[in-house]
Amino acid sequence: MAIITEIAPDLFRISIYAQHINMQFNHFLVRDEEPLLFHTGLKAMFPELNEAVAKVIDPASLRHIAWSHFESDECGALNEWLEIAPNAQPVCTLVGKIVNVDDFSIRPAFGMTADDILRTGKYSYRFHRSPHIPHGWDAGVLFEEVSKTLFCSDLFHHFGDAEPMTSSDLIGPTQLAMQQMQTGPLAGYMPYTRQTEGVLRALAELKPETLAVMHGSSFSGNCAGMLVDLAGVIKENFDKERI
Ligand SMILES: [Fe+2]
Ligand SMILES: [Fe+2]
Repeated sequence: MAIITEIAPDLFRISIYAQHINMQFNHFLVRDEEPLLFHTGLKAMFPELNEAVAKVIDPASLRHIAWSHFESDECGALNEWLEIAPNAQPVCTLVGKIVNVDDFSIRPAFGMTADDILRTGKYSYRFHRSPHIPHGWDAGVLFEEVSKTLFCSDLFHHFGDAEPMTSSDLIGPTQLAMQQMQTGPLAGYMPYTRQTEGVLRALAELKPETLAVMHGSSFSGNCAGMLVDLAGVIKENFDKERI
Protein backbone atom coordinates (compact mmCIF):
# COMPACT_ATOMS: atom_id res chain seq x y z
CA MET A 1 0.00 0.00 0.00
CA ALA A 2 1.27 3.45 -0.86
CA ILE A 3 2.24 5.59 2.13
CA ILE A 4 1.52 9.30 1.79
CA THR A 5 3.48 11.78 3.92
CA GLU A 6 3.45 15.57 3.70
CA ILE A 7 7.19 16.04 4.23
CA ALA A 8 7.05 19.83 3.78
CA PRO A 9 4.09 22.18 3.20
CA ASP A 10 2.30 21.07 -0.02
CA LEU A 11 4.98 18.45 -0.71
CA PHE A 12 3.59 14.92 -0.55
CA ARG A 13 5.87 11.91 -0.66
CA ILE A 14 4.01 8.86 -1.96
CA SER A 15 6.04 5.78 -1.20
CA ILE A 16 5.63 2.25 -2.53
CA TYR A 17 7.94 -0.33 -1.00
CA ALA A 18 9.04 -3.21 -3.23
CA GLN A 19 9.83 -5.87 -0.69
CA HIS A 20 11.46 -8.29 -3.15
CA ILE A 21 14.27 -5.82 -3.80
CA ASN A 22 14.08 -4.07 -0.41
CA MET A 23 13.68 -0.72 -2.12
CA GLN A 24 11.24 2.16 -1.94
CA PHE A 25 9.93 3.93 -5.00
CA ASN A 26 9.02 7.47 -3.97
CA HIS A 27 6.88 9.83 -6.00
CA PHE A 28 6.45 13.49 -5.10
CA LEU A 29 3.27 15.44 -5.55
CA VAL A 30 3.30 19.21 -5.11
CA ARG A 31 -0.09 20.73 -4.36
CA ASP A 32 -0.47 24.11 -6.05
CA GLU A 33 -2.77 25.95 -8.47
CA GLU A 34 -1.14 23.76 -11.11
CA PRO A 35 -0.23 20.49 -9.36
CA LEU A 36 3.04 18.80 -10.29
CA LEU A 37 4.01 15.14 -9.96
CA PHE A 38 7.71 14.22 -9.93
CA HIS A 39 8.20 10.58 -11.07
CA THR A 40 5.31 8.86 -12.82
CA GLY A 41 6.24 5.52 -11.28
CA LEU A 42 6.38 2.21 -13.10
CA LYS A 43 3.40 1.28 -15.26
CA ALA A 44 2.69 -1.59 -12.87
CA MET A 45 2.42 0.89 -9.98
CA PHE A 46 0.04 3.25 -11.77
CA PRO A 47 -3.27 1.99 -10.26
CA GLU A 48 -1.90 2.18 -6.72
CA LEU A 49 -0.26 5.53 -7.27
CA ASN A 50 -3.34 6.99 -8.92
CA GLU A 51 -5.42 5.94 -5.92
CA ALA A 52 -2.89 7.59 -3.59
CA VAL A 53 -2.75 10.85 -5.58
CA ALA A 54 -6.57 10.94 -5.46
CA LYS A 55 -6.39 11.21 -1.67
CA VAL A 56 -4.61 14.56 -2.04
CA ILE A 57 -5.90 16.11 -5.29
CA ASP A 58 -8.14 15.18 -8.19
CA PRO A 59 -5.68 13.29 -10.46
CA ALA A 60 -7.41 14.81 -13.50
CA SER A 61 -6.23 18.23 -12.32
CA LEU A 62 -2.51 17.37 -12.65
CA ARG A 63 -0.80 19.92 -14.90
CA HIS A 64 2.87 18.98 -14.87
CA ILE A 65 4.51 15.57 -14.82
CA ALA A 66 8.26 15.76 -14.41
CA TRP A 67 11.19 13.42 -13.86
CA SER A 68 14.98 13.29 -14.09
CA HIS A 69 15.96 10.77 -16.77
CA PHE A 70 14.30 8.32 -19.13
CA GLU A 71 13.79 5.09 -17.18
CA SER A 72 10.69 3.11 -16.30
CA ASP A 73 10.58 4.04 -12.62
CA GLU A 74 11.03 7.71 -13.53
CA CYS A 75 8.54 8.03 -16.39
CA GLY A 76 7.21 4.59 -17.41
CA ALA A 77 3.59 5.46 -16.61
CA LEU A 78 3.75 8.88 -18.30
CA ASN A 79 1.07 8.10 -20.88
CA GLU A 80 -1.25 6.61 -18.27
CA TRP A 81 -1.11 9.93 -16.39
CA LEU A 82 -1.53 11.98 -19.58
CA GLU A 83 -4.63 9.98 -20.40
CA ILE A 84 -6.38 10.66 -17.11
CA ALA A 85 -5.13 14.28 -16.81
CA PRO A 86 -6.07 16.00 -20.07
CA ASN A 87 -4.27 19.26 -19.27
CA ALA A 88 -1.05 17.70 -18.02
CA GLN A 89 2.23 18.20 -19.85
CA PRO A 90 5.42 16.18 -19.55
CA VAL A 91 8.33 18.21 -18.18
CA CYS A 92 11.95 17.12 -18.59
CA THR A 93 15.28 18.39 -19.87
CA LEU A 94 15.54 19.57 -23.48
CA VAL A 95 17.78 16.56 -24.20
CA GLY A 96 15.11 14.26 -22.76
CA LYS A 97 12.46 15.83 -24.97
CA ILE A 98 14.55 15.59 -28.14
CA VAL A 99 16.10 12.17 -27.58
CA ASN A 100 13.22 10.17 -26.09
CA VAL A 101 10.09 11.79 -24.89
CA ASP A 102 8.42 13.39 -27.90
CA ASP A 103 8.41 10.00 -29.62
CA PHE A 104 7.34 8.02 -26.55
CA SER A 105 4.76 10.40 -25.16
CA ILE A 106 1.21 10.95 -26.41
CA ARG A 107 1.79 14.71 -25.95
CA PRO A 108 4.93 16.75 -26.50
CA ALA A 109 7.11 17.64 -23.55
CA PHE A 110 8.24 20.97 -22.18
CA GLY A 111 11.98 20.43 -22.57
CA MET A 112 13.41 22.87 -20.05
CA THR A 113 16.68 24.73 -20.60
CA ALA A 114 18.67 26.76 -18.08
CA ASP A 115 16.67 29.86 -19.11
CA ASP A 116 13.25 28.36 -18.46
CA ILE A 117 11.20 28.85 -15.31
CA LEU A 118 8.06 26.83 -14.65
CA ARG A 119 5.59 28.71 -12.45
CA THR A 120 2.72 26.70 -11.03
CA GLY A 121 1.11 29.30 -8.71
CA LYS A 122 2.85 29.53 -5.38
CA TYR A 123 5.86 27.56 -6.57
CA SER A 124 8.48 28.05 -9.24
CA TYR A 125 10.82 25.47 -10.76
CA ARG A 126 14.05 25.32 -12.73
CA PHE A 127 15.63 22.23 -14.28
CA HIS A 128 19.36 21.88 -13.71
CA ARG A 129 21.07 19.73 -16.31
CA SER A 130 23.19 16.97 -14.84
CA PRO A 131 24.23 14.75 -17.78
CA HIS A 132 25.15 11.24 -16.60
CA ILE A 133 24.40 12.21 -12.97
CA PRO A 134 22.98 9.98 -11.58
CA HIS A 135 22.98 8.42 -15.05
CA GLY A 136 21.60 9.09 -18.51
CA TRP A 137 22.59 11.72 -21.05
CA ASP A 138 19.22 13.40 -20.52
CA ALA A 139 19.48 13.60 -16.72
CA GLY A 140 18.57 16.70 -14.77
CA VAL A 141 17.33 17.60 -11.32
CA LEU A 142 14.38 19.84 -10.64
CA PHE A 143 14.69 22.62 -8.08
CA GLU A 144 11.70 24.36 -6.56
CA GLU A 145 12.92 27.82 -5.67
CA VAL A 146 10.34 28.98 -3.08
CA SER A 147 10.51 26.00 -0.72
CA LYS A 148 14.08 25.17 -1.86
CA THR A 149 13.30 21.55 -2.57
CA LEU A 150 15.69 19.61 -4.77
CA PHE A 151 14.05 16.67 -6.52
CA CYS A 152 17.17 14.59 -6.82
CA SER A 153 15.99 11.31 -8.36
CA ASP A 154 18.48 8.48 -7.74
CA LEU A 155 21.04 10.64 -5.95
CA PHE A 156 21.33 9.39 -2.34
CA HIS A 157 19.50 6.14 -3.17
CA HIS A 158 19.52 3.63 -0.35
CA PHE A 159 17.80 0.39 0.55
CA GLY A 160 15.14 -0.47 3.12
CA ASP A 161 11.64 0.67 3.95
CA ALA A 162 13.09 3.90 5.28
CA GLU A 163 11.34 6.63 7.25
CA PRO A 164 9.81 9.35 5.04
CA MET A 165 12.12 12.12 6.25
CA THR A 166 15.39 12.21 8.11
CA SER A 167 17.84 14.83 9.31
CA SER A 168 20.60 12.36 10.01
CA ASP A 169 23.30 11.30 7.60
CA LEU A 170 22.34 9.96 4.17
CA ILE A 171 25.92 9.36 3.10
CA GLY A 172 26.38 6.17 5.14
CA PRO A 173 23.26 4.42 3.76
CA THR A 174 24.10 5.64 0.24
CA GLN A 175 27.63 4.29 0.51
CA LEU A 176 26.31 0.89 1.61
CA ALA A 177 23.78 0.81 -1.23
CA MET A 178 26.45 1.64 -3.81
CA GLN A 179 28.74 -1.08 -2.50
CA GLN A 180 25.87 -3.58 -2.67
CA MET A 181 24.78 -2.53 -6.16
CA GLN A 182 28.35 -2.74 -7.42
CA THR A 183 28.50 -6.44 -6.59
CA GLY A 184 25.32 -7.23 -8.56
CA PRO A 185 24.13 -7.29 -12.17
CA LEU A 186 23.44 -3.53 -12.21
CA ALA A 187 27.05 -2.57 -11.43
CA GLY A 188 28.32 0.54 -13.20
CA TYR A 189 24.95 2.25 -13.02
CA MET A 190 26.39 5.62 -11.97
CA PRO A 191 29.47 6.82 -13.83
CA TYR A 192 32.03 9.10 -12.23
CA THR A 193 33.23 11.74 -14.66
CA ARG A 194 35.31 14.89 -14.56
CA GLN A 195 32.01 16.80 -14.35
CA THR A 196 30.57 14.94 -11.35
CA GLU A 197 32.06 17.02 -8.58
CA GLY A 198 31.40 20.35 -10.32
CA VAL A 199 27.75 19.51 -10.98
CA LEU A 200 27.16 18.45 -7.38
CA ARG A 201 28.94 21.56 -6.06
CA ALA A 202 26.73 23.74 -8.27
CA LEU A 203 23.65 22.00 -6.83
CA ALA A 204 25.01 22.60 -3.32
CA GLU A 205 25.23 26.31 -4.13
CA LEU A 206 21.45 26.35 -4.58
CA LYS A 207 21.32 25.77 -0.81
CA PRO A 208 18.41 23.32 -0.87
CA GLU A 209 16.45 22.86 2.33
CA THR A 210 14.88 19.54 1.38
CA LEU A 211 16.28 16.71 -0.70
CA ALA A 212 13.41 14.70 -2.21
CA VAL A 213 15.02 11.27 -2.66
CA MET A 214 13.52 8.65 -4.97
CA HIS A 215 14.76 5.53 -3.18
CA GLY A 216 14.92 5.94 0.61
CA SER A 217 14.38 8.75 3.10
CA SER A 218 14.11 12.36 2.06
CA PHE A 219 16.38 14.74 3.92
CA SER A 220 16.20 18.11 5.62
CA GLY A 221 19.24 19.74 7.17
CA ASN A 222 22.65 20.53 5.72
CA CYS A 223 21.73 19.59 2.15
CA ALA A 224 24.66 21.49 0.63
CA GLY A 225 27.18 19.58 2.72
CA MET A 226 25.50 16.31 1.82
CA LEU A 227 25.72 17.08 -1.92
CA VAL A 228 29.43 17.91 -1.66
CA ASP A 229 30.05 14.70 0.29
CA LEU A 230 28.11 12.69 -2.28
CA ALA A 231 30.69 13.54 -4.94
CA GLY A 232 33.35 11.84 -2.81
CA VAL A 233 31.25 8.71 -2.35
CA ILE A 234 30.53 8.45 -6.07
CA LYS A 235 34.25 8.83 -6.79
CA GLU A 236 35.14 6.17 -4.26
CA ASN A 237 32.69 3.64 -5.68
CA PHE A 238 32.77 4.32 -9.41
CA ASP A 239 36.13 5.87 -10.33
CA LYS A 240 37.75 2.53 -11.00
CA GLU A 241 39.66 0.98 -13.89
CA ARG A 242 37.24 -1.92 -14.04
CA ILE A 243 33.78 -2.46 -12.69
FE1 LIG B 1 17.73 5.90 -12.60
FE1 LIG C 1 15.20 5.45 -9.63
